Amino acid sequence: MSFLRSIGDLIGFLILTVVSIAESIVKLFIPMKYRMKSIAGEIALVTGGGGGLGRLIALRLAKLGAIVVIWDVNKIGTEETVKLVEAIGGTCYGYVCDLCDREDVYKKAKLVKEEVGKVTILINNAGVASGMRFIDTPDKLIIRTMDVNVMSHFWTTKAFLPSMMESNKGHIVSIASLAGHLGVPRLVDYCTSKFAAIGFEEALHMELAARYNINTTVICPFFIRSTGMFEDVSPRFFPRLSPNEVADRVVSAMRCNEKIAVVPGYLYILLVAKWAFPWTVAGMFIRGIVSNTLGCNTTTTPAPKKEVIPTVLPKKSDTVNIHQQLTKRISNSERKP
Ligand SMILES: *[C@@H]1O[C@H](CO)[C@@H](O)[C@H](O)[C@H]1NC(C)=O
Ligand SMILES: *[C@@H]1O[C@H](CO)[C@@H](O)[C@H](O)[C@H]1NC(C)=O
Repeated sequence: MSFLRSIGDLIGFLILTVVSIAESIVKLFIPMKYRMKSIAGEIALVTGGGGGLGRLIALRLAKLGAIVVIWDVNKIGTEETVKLVEAIGGTCYGYVCDLCDREDVYKKAKLVKEEVGKVTILINNAGVASGMRFIDTPDKLIIRTMDVNVMSHFWTTKAFLPSMMESNKGHIVSIASLAGHLGVPRLVDYCTSKFAAIGFEEALHMELAARYNINTTVICPFFIRSTGMFEDVSPRFFPRLSPNEVADRVVSAMRCNEKIAVVPGYLYILLVAKWAFPWTVAGMFIRGIVSNTLGCNTTTTPAPKKEVIPTVLPKKSDTVNIHQQLTKRISNSERKP
């Protein structure tokens, strides 16, 4: 009996595989804009929204009609993002929150619930990197990397998941990294935290997908320019990404309910290569791509975000134009940590 059942399972599994592949192929021909869900009126929270990628994501969500809540440890950056979102006609609430402090996360989550409402989209975006050889990295920085890049995902998710379960609707997005799939020299703490973030996201997905209408998306970008994190990284073969490109992908992957998005998409090949080739070859290739990281000697404190911001917001002008100016500015400014 159990043998027959196993055969049945196997056949079912194969049929499902064929159907899923067919579905993906059909989807290729449907333009993305028809597959994207509306997020108008939803409350979306972006951690690390006081600058960099988080700010760009916040602007996009606001443009799509979401009510945006941003958390950042940087007060000035937070206020600036609020102003920027308001300048394009969006609604934005900013809270100063230290993601390294679990109690602060819970406290601010409660405040958000009282003052804004139920968060249905949670974007765990905040991230830091130490960028030193492991042996030189002070313990404090290692702990900070783990706290911000992964532990905070536990606390924010714990804070907002219950209300998502209650209304059986929600979406949790984790901004991880390709370095969450591949070990990179000089980024030992960073890679560890990102591997963990990916594991967290995947296990949580398994737990939720079966019972709730709550989706998860994990974004695995290659190195991004101008976020203050990888200014000294000049990878070979592949250019660093513009933060605007990544922000666009974050929003489109979320709206299409994609489970994982590697940015740029063709770098999926790295994940396959890692397991398909003998480690001596795969390891050499990965090291080759990021060899310049070895020269990197910086820490990223939440960088001063000043140069990103126009000191005076144009009083009245076309909002699209403002948006373009701002986003261009962000991508053009090569920020030093
Ligand atoms: C989650 O994803 C599924 C499959 O794409 C979709 O049908 C559902 O509406 C999504 N739910 C939410 C809350 O986005
Ligand atoms: C790395 O940075 C520290 C502090 O900024 C400095 O003291 C040290 O000399 C630098 N090391 C290298 C190899 O550049």
